Amino acid sequence: MRIRVLMGPPGVGKGTVASRLADKLNSRHLSTGDLLREAIAQGTELGIEAGSRMSKGELVPDGLMVALVEDQFDRHGGLDFLLDGFPRTALQARLLDAGLAARGTRVDAVIGMEAPERVVLQRLGGRRICGSCGASFHTAFIPPRTEGVCDRCGGVLVRRPDDRDEAIVRRLAVYRSQMDELEPYYRSRGVYFPVDASGTPEQTEANVLTALERG
Ligand code: AP5
Repeated sequence: MRIRVLMGPPGVGKGTVASRLADKLNSRHLSTGDLLREAIAQGTELGIEAGSRMSKGELVPDGLMVALVEDQFDRHGGLDFLLDGFPRTALQARLLDAGLAARGTRVDAVIGMEAPERVVLQRLGGRRICGSCGASFHTAFIPPRTEGVCDRCGGVLVRRPDDRDEAIVRRLAVYRSQMDELEPYYRSRGVYFPVDASGTPEQTEANVLTALERG
């Protein structure tokens, strides 16, 4: 089981690059944000707990997140994973390491996706997701064939509730404070590779692949 992690600020393009790369890396794309949004849509206990925190831009408690991810490892045992949005705190990173050690593996590489804040804000501002299947678009950069309609399933495209200005400000602040611990944690283990994510999806995908090959 190989574990690679995509890390970076909200809107930098983690989900976009992960969905393009997962097949090429023969890995399962595991987005904790997507799993939480599914739980909210299904009205599960986890969804109810997570929903109000997410719409304010706050993190969901570490214990819930670690259990969610470990459940995925157990359900899809033996597969390689491309993690998107996890770990997000130093405690999650330590618990992930412990859980992987118990399964005889460890984190292979952490890709730190970087882009200037103005780029990230433009990406978040134009993001639209499908209310039915969750596919993601951008009004200017990755537009759907028909405005407001999902290319994949014909569903209606909407803004994510946490893509409102106040929630974006909070998400960026939370990200910065968590990275103060997370980046040194992975650098000290020799598995942290920063990449430029400010270009097109194709350029970013190539940069990530190059970093993974070096790692
Ligand atoms: P999550 O869904 O993980 O949100 P995030 O980390 O804030 O990241 P985003 O999904 O906003 O952005 P992204 O980097 O994936 O960018 P995308 O590819 O969509 O988490 C949401 C919430 O859930 C958290 O705030 C927290 O509450 C909770 N949560 C999740 N995991 C947790 C954890 N481990 N612990 C605790 N709580 C947790 O791209 C953005 C836009 O830009 C799109 O419109 C896209 O089309 C466009 N785009 C992408 N790449 C490019 C490009 N290269 N050029 C032009 N446009 C681009």
